Amino acid sequence: MTATANSDSMAATPPAPFAAAENVCTVVSNHPVNARYNHLVLAAPPTALTARPGQFFHLLCEGVPGDPAFLRRPMSVYRLRPADGADGASGIVEFLYKVVGAGTRAMARLEPGGSFNILGPLGQGFHLDPGWRHVVIVARGVGLATLAPLADMCRRAGVGIGAILSAQSPELIMAEDVMEAVGAEVVRVTDTEGTSTVANVERLVRGRIAEGRADALFTCGSNRLLMLLQKIARQEGIPGQVALEQQMACGLGMCVCCVRQVRRGGQTLDLRVCREGPVFELEEPVSW
Ligand SMILES: Cc1cc2nc3c(=O)[nH]c(=O)nc-3n(C[C@H](O)[C@H](O)[C@H](O)COP(=O)(O)OP(=O)(O)OC[C@H]3O[C@@H](n4cnc5c(N)ncnc54)[C@H](O)[C@@H]3O)c2cc1C
Ligand code: FES
Repeated sequence: MTATANSDSMAATPPAPFAAAENVCTVVSNHPVNARYNHLVLAAPPTALTARPGQFFHLLCEGVPGDPAFLRRPMSVYRLRPADGADGASGIVEFLYKVVGAGTRAMARLEPGGSFNILGPLGQGFHLDPGWRHVVIVARGVGLATLAPLADMCRRAGVGIGAILSAQSPELIMAEDVMEAVGAEVVRVTDTEGTSTVANVERLVRGRIAEGRADALFTCGSNRLLMLLQKIARQEGIPGQVALEQQMACGLGMCVCCVRQVRRGGQTLDLRVCREGPVFELEEPVSW
C-alpha cells in the first residue's frame, strides 16, 4: 500500500518538531579544499548553533544577473562550534560544498565580511542508541561532509568509530582529519585505486562485524553503498541510519516536492526528505 505523507498526520510516526530560524551570518572564510569542494565558515547567531548532526540548513544563494538561483539550496552542517563566552567570539557553522550549479556557484563567490542567510536547522538528525559501543560509517562524496559531525557525536558518547571514506580519487577524500581527530579508524577507498568497489567495501564492513565492532551502520552519499549496507544490515540483523539527498523547494515540509518512498510500519509511504528526513532508519528507503 502506498500513502503520500502530505501532512505530518499521514506519516506512520509524526516527525519530531524542530525550531528553525532565519539566521543572518557573517562569512569568515570561503576556500577550495580540493579541485571539487569548497569550505565555507560562517559566524552564526545562537539560533543556528542548535543544529544536530544530520540536520541541514536551507541557504539563500543569491545568484548574479545572468546566473540566477531561484529557491534556497539545502546543505548539511559539516561542523559547528559554540560561541566562546570567554573571548566573546561568535558561534561558527561550517559547510563543505561541491560547486555544481547556479546556487553553489553563488556560494563560491561569497567573501569574508559578507553576509549569508541560512534558514534552519531543519529536518531530523542522527540518533545513537545508548547500548551501541562501536559503529561503522560509510561515506562518499558530499556524504563525507554530512557524516563528519556524527563522528564527533559518537566521540562525545564514548562510541568507537570505523570510518570507510570513499571518493573518486585520493585528493577528493575529505573530512579524514575530522574523523581521525575524534579517534575514528579510517580506511580510504577510491575509484582510481580500484578499492571503492562494492565488493571491497562489503569485505571491509563484514570485517568490522566479524570483530564485533559494528553495533550500527551509517551511510550517506551513494545509492550503491546504501543498497549494500541495507543488504548487510538485513542479513546480520544490524540497525543503522542513512541521510538522504533530494532536490528541495521549501525545505519546510509544505510543497511535497522532496518525497521519497520508504517502508515504515508495514506500509510503503512517500515521506518528505526535508521533514521526516533527511535521516531515516537504514532499512526504510526504497532504493532507486
Ligand atoms: C539534506 C541535504 C544535504 C545536502 N548537503 C550537502 C553538502 O553538505 N554539500 C554539498 O555539496 N551538497 C549538499 N547537498 C546537495 C546540494 O543541495 C546541491 O548540490 C545544491 O542544491 C545544488 O544547487 P546548485 O544551484 O548549485 O545546482 P543546481 O543548478 O540546482 O543543480 C545542479 C546539479 O545538481 C543536482 N542537484 C541539485 N540539487 C540537488 C540535491 N538536493 N541533491 C542532489 N543533487 C542535486 C541537479 O540535479 C543538477 O544535476 C545536500 C542536499 C540535501 C537535500
Ligand atoms: S522541500 Fe518542500 S516539502 Fe520538502
